[in-house]
Amino acid sequence: MTIDILRDKTEMIEATRRWQAAGDTVCLVPTMGSIHTGHLALIEKARQIAARTVVSIYVNPTQFSPSEDFDSYPRRFEADCAAIRAAGGADAIYAPADMYGDKHATMIVPGGVALPMEGETRPHFFAGVATVVHKLFTHVPADRAIFGEKDFQQLAVIRQMVRDMNIPIDIISHPTIRESDGLALSSRNHYLTPQQRSIAPTLYAEMLAAAVALNDGIAIDQVLDQTKATLISAGFDRIDYFDLRRATDLQPSRHPASTDRLFAAVWLGQTRLIDNCQL
Ligand code: PAJ
Repeated sequence: MTIDILRDKTEMIEATRRWQAAGDTVCLVPTMGSIHTGHLALIEKARQIAARTVVSIYVNPTQFSPSEDFDSYPRRFEADCAAIRAAGGADAIYAPADMYGDKHATMIVPGGVALPMEGETRPHFFAGVATVVHKLFTHVPADRAIFGEKDFQQLAVIRQMVRDMNIPIDIISHPTIRESDGLALSSRNHYLTPQQRSIAPTLYAEMLAAAVALNDGIAIDQVLDQTKATLISAGFDRIDYFDLRRATDLQPSRHPASTDRLFAAVWLGQTRLIDNCQL
C-alpha cells in the first residue's frame, strides 16, 4: 500500500474532505512519532473502524517545558513510515511543516480533568496537548480519532475538550499495549539504561499488586503508602504521584469501585514513566 505523505494543512484538509465526499469515514491517529507496537495497535484499530486512516507525526513543542526532553525526543521519520507500511499501512501520514506560525498566540487551557496529577506536576502539558490536538482536528477534520489508555488522563482531557468545544469527532480509546514483562510501551523507554529497564516492569507489577490489595479490602492509604515504599526500594528514584482515582472525573477515590483506576508517574534517573490500570 502506498502511503501519501502530506505536510501542508490545506492539502490535508482537502484530502480528508475528498474522502468524506466519496462516502468514506476518516480516522485520525495523532502521534509524536518514534512509532512502536502501541501506536501500531491504534493504527490497526483505525483501519478496522474507518475506510481511511491518517497518522499524524509531530513532536509538539508546546507540550514540553524548557527543562523537558523536546530536543532529545526521538525523531526517526523514515523508520516510522517504514514501520507503519510494514504493519499494514495508512492512507496518509500527516507531518505538518507549519503547525505554529511566528505569530501564534492562542492556547486552549483545559480545566477539570486536566488539573490533577499531570496537571500538578507538568502544568504546561495539557494546554500544549489540547492546543495541538485541536489544531490537528482542524487540519484533519476526521470523523473519528483514536487515543491510547496508556495516557488515560490525556484521553479524558481530549474527551472533555471535544464535549466543551462541540468538536464533531468521535473519540475512540484503545487499551495499553505492554511488553511481555508488563512494561507499557512508550517512546521514552529508549532512554532507559539496561539496569533501569530491568527495574521498570516493577511499576506495573506493583500496580497490579495494589489493585489486588484494594479489591481485598485493605485501606486505600495503607495500600498507596506501601506501594510507594516498595517502588522506592525497587530502585525508582522519585514518585510524582501514585493514586487511586475515579475514572469519570479523575478525583481521588475514597471507596474503591471496580471502575476506579490506579495512576502512577515515577522517575528512573532522568526518565519519567507513567502508567495506569483499572481496578
Ligand atoms: P505519543 O506519546 O506519540 O502517543 C500517541 C498515541 O499513542 C496516544 O494516544 C497514546 O496514548 C498512544 N500510546 C502510546 N503508548 C501506548 C501504548 N503502550 N499502548 C496503547 N497506546 C499507546 O500522546 C502523544 O503522543 C501526544 O501527546 C499527542 C496526543 C500526539 C499530542 O501531541
